[in-house]
Amino acid sequence: MTDIDMPQGELVRVVAEEISEAGGRAFWVGGAVRDHFMGREPVDYDIEVHGLQGEQLLEILGHHGKAVKVGKSFANFLLTGVNADWSIPDPPSETPSGGDWTDAVREAALRRDLTINALAVDVLDGSLHDPFDGLEDLERKRLRWCDKETFGRDPLRLLRVMQFIARFEFEIEPELTELCKGLDLSDVTPERIDGEFDKLLLKSSRPSLGIFWLGSMQRLGEWLSPLQRFVVPQLFERLLALDRLAIEAFEDEERELAMLWAVLGAGFKDQKPGDNFIQRARVLKWRNLLIECHDELLKGDENVDYLLKKLAHRLGPDWDLHHLFLLEEALAYGEKHAPPVSLRIRSMELGIIHGPEQELVKSGDLNGITEPGPQMGELLRKAYEMQTREGISDKAEILKRLND
Ligand code: CTP
Repeated sequence: MTDIDMPQGELVRVVAEEISEAGGRAFWVGGAVRDHFMGREPVDYDIEVHGLQGEQLLEILGHHGKAVKVGKSFANFLLTGVNADWSIPDPPSETPSGGDWTDAVREAALRRDLTINALAVDVLDGSLHDPFDGLEDLERKRLRWCDKETFGRDPLRLLRVMQFIARFEFEIEPELTELCKGLDLSDVTPERIDGEFDKLLLKSSRPSLGIFWLGSMQRLGEWLSPLQRFVVPQLFERLLALDRLAIEAFEDEERELAMLWAVLGAGFKDQKPGDNFIQRARVLKWRNLLIECHDELLKGDENVDYLLKKLAHRLGPDWDLHHLFLLEEALAYGEKHAPPVSLRIRSMELGIIHGPEQELVKSGDLNGITEPGPQMGELLRKAYEMQTREGISDKAEILKRLND
């Protein structure tokens, strides 16, 4: 018997004791147990409760804090103060007469996706249940289904496999790929699809592996269709660029996603990879801004300082030239051409790498000249153009010329 101490508060143990007194049993399950054995710090915890009905579990949880039901069925619950999802298997398991929960745990685990995600640890005695040799698969670094028949009941699992390949760089059983090839995701919601791509991009330093796997099954087209227009060497280049960018640190998740989707979508004018499921409006807006500014950077301008100042202004206040150069540097890395280092240096000399040049003329300066509205917007644009294109640094002169 293996004794495992899952790193959660004493509260879970106290609740588990009450569950046990009521004839049930609580187990740590899912990704947290897997991560524990991989030596990774788990983020989210799942606790599966056997031998009780949902209503009974909710009542017990209610003795220890504010307990709420999640979703429509009486199967998932949250308890304040515990970072875990409490669930009842479907169907709920019976309390075994001899007190041995092995069969009940195995029965529920059969409906999980992969053997490495089907480990369960008894909250009270720390014993491990490993019905499908998930531990051995973790050691051998391989992805296997728990059960061929139940795996395909949730077709989203194809995309779960995609992101696990990239996150863990595990081998995949050929039969699992074969099974995934045939899964139909047309009824899976865009939200769930987006969730798996978020994990692919945010949690892996080599997201390309998952995308190559989709490509190997001829299934790129469903989610990343523009990439299908690439011939193979071009696809390699683009995915190399993606991996290059995936190891950079960004300020937050939405920025990271916007940059990674931008590197996949750079150069595509109409439809871009991910358009059919990306949910977060800010990620889409930012991705498009980055791609448009990148196009402009590549087009160039005789007046380099003006180009850089214009782009810095357009990218602000959320983005700056540093991000735009990161994007182009990643693409240059993939395509094996020289990155625009001189432009980066010039932006640094101009003091605009981390934000645009401040506008000399502000709306308040135009009060006597025009009313707030589109005309004022146009004058402000002209004023900024004079400042950045012609390098006029005298506000009075700009105002005089606007007045003329
Ligand atoms: N699960 C499943 N099929 C799904 C989703 C989840 O079998 N389509 C099971 C797996 O046993 C999984 C557990 O539910 O481990 C929890 O799922 P989730 O929290 O979505 O992912 P994790 O596996 O915990 O992994 P991570 O959060 O690190 O991505």
